[in-house]
Amino acid sequence: MDLRAWLVLGVLGLVSLGCETPPPDGRAVFLTVGCARCHGNTGAGESLGPPLEDLSTKFTIKQMNAFLDNPIAYAEKDERLSKWRDEYFTPMPKLQMNDPQRDALVAYLFEKHP
Ligand code: HEC
Repeated sequence: MDLRAWLVLGVLGLVSLGCETPPPDGRAVFLTVGCARCHGNTGAGESLGPPLEDLSTKFTIKQMNAFLDNPIAYAEKDERLSKWRDEYFTPMPKLQMNDPQRDALVAYLFEKHP
């Protein structure tokens, strides 16, 4: 290959680096995986789920990940969360998302509902 061919390859490589998929947006994840159905579009609460507020006083990031990973099991062991059992029609279900989506969602929760 001559020098020009290498240059073209190099430029293409740089361009593709710049085009890596951007990290998911936490608010978009909240809306698309279904959190908003129960907690409202802004997380202010709905008939199916409580308002999301003061989350950083209730969860560490690690705990929030554990909760989202298995909300039912987590809530059963948590006195405060299990009190909501009588108030809401269904317990919070586990919703499917990939790791980058969950990281973005957790960051969004602590940022918007600290
Ligand atoms: C089917 C309705 C429903 C859906 C969908 C749902 N939740 Fe919940 N959520 C609840 C209920 C009910 C509770 C009260 C505790 C429990 O039942 O587990 C709760 C509790 C919570 C809490 C704890 C609030 C506190 O003050 O301790 C957080 C945080 C939360 N939900 C975030 C989410 C996120 C993020 C999603 C999307 C991945 C989501 N929820 C999806 C119904 C729902």
